[in-house]
Amino acid sequence: MRNFEFYNPTKLIFGKDTLEALKTEVPKYGKKVLLVYGGGSIKRNGLYDRTLSLLSEIGAEVSELAGVEPNPRLSTVHRGVELCREKGIELILAVGGGSVLDCAKAVAVGAKYEGDIWDFVDRKAAPQGALPLGTVLTMAATGSEMNNGSVITNEKTQEKMGWGSVHAYPAFSILDPVNTYSVPRDQTIYGVVDMMSHVLEHYFHQDANTPVQDGFCEALLRTMMEAGSKLVNDLENYELRETILYCGTMALNGMVSMGFAGDWATHNIEHAVSAVYDIPHGGGLAILFPNWMKHNLDVNPARFRQLAVNVFGVDAAGKTDREAGLEGIEALSRFWTSIGAPSRLADYDIDDSQIGAMADKAVKFGPFGNFSKLQREDVIEIYKMSL
Ligand code: NZQ
Ligand code: ZN
Repeated sequence: MRNFEFYNPTKLIFGKDTLEALKTEVPKYGKKVLLVYGGGSIKRNGLYDRTLSLLSEIGAEVSELAGVEPNPRLSTVHRGVELCREKGIELILAVGGGSVLDCAKAVAVGAKYEGDIWDFVDRKAAPQGALPLGTVLTMAATGSEMNNGSVITNEKTQEKMGWGSVHAYPAFSILDPVNTYSVPRDQTIYGVVDMMSHVLEHYFHQDANTPVQDGFCEALLRTMMEAGSKLVNDLENYELRETILYCGTMALNGMVSMGFAGDWATHNIEHAVSAVYDIPHGGGLAILFPNWMKHNLDVNPARFRQLAVNVFGVDAAGKTDREAGLEGIEALSRFWTSIGAPSRLADYDIDDSQIGAMADKAVKFGPFGNFSKLQREDVIEIYKMSL
């Protein structure tokens, strides 16, 4: 292992009927609340009304930032920052999926910064503070509810990039599996792919002696596959929603990834695709991850064998690490296809015309990836394999 410090200040409030916790959590931060939400799913499933009614019980003064897009836009963050200043906001409350939470994180740090928050995304400045943020998560996928990351799209420059700051952890996050019942089948699938991809990004690293972490990651992957495959055909099953919701949080809150540096190249490659084509993040990952794996199989075939055997139950007897590893990659692709995830860029009508431009975006800060350093030509190759 490499030396590490673990810090995660988010108070996680998990389970049925936990929305009530707003009544005790919100007053800790003040009365002036900015409610941030997306394109209307919370109005259709009743969560908006329930949230407003709880906020009114405690006398909160609520302003709203509505219409946060999937792949949240910088202009929406700017609107939120202006609202915070205009209304003297004391707490930001994000109710939605990863996009709503990520937008709210950017608003929270932007409200304490004189310049443009894109400076943080573009690595030109680092946040020095933030307004407190609470979240009510409505969709299991990103882990944003208990981490300090956020991904923002600059629609003017067609860039989509992640940023993180110690100031971006939610103060509290409320996760009720019932609030995820209405997530449609396609988004449920993307969520499962995304959380599995987070674990896979961890799994491919170059640090030694991580047997506990390997076991955590393998257990998460097996559980996500078992619950995920049932959930996509049984969307209002409480236990399956509960399992997947917990898995999504655990995959990216730092608990299973102490002591090593995961790869994270595939996320970078995917963000460049959704920057140009505005596709769902999980859909892009389902297409790209197996091809990143094939491209990097020879970097450490034994690692791929371990994944194949411990997660996909591949019978590796008499097989080379490479052969067994390849079977594991194929099993992963088969699993994602079986639950209805896309497998080719063509599934989103994406051809080879923007491959060079996407690769340029992916390598903006130089070669990347901790398991294997990718150069521009590697990225091009992975895009070509994915067409
Ligand atoms: O906008 P609304 O109307 O709320 O609808 C959303 C949206 O259309 C809908 N939805 C969410 N909860 C629902 C629901 N529909 C019905 N019932 C519910 N309960 O689902 C659609 C997708 O929502 P979105 O928030 O975009 O999905 P997700 O949670 O997958 O977030 C994706 C974004 O997060 C970034 C991605 O790149 C992408 O921009 N990521 C953030 C990370 C982080 N902060 O740590 C890490 C990830 O790797 C990822 O990159
Ligand atoms: Zn992701």
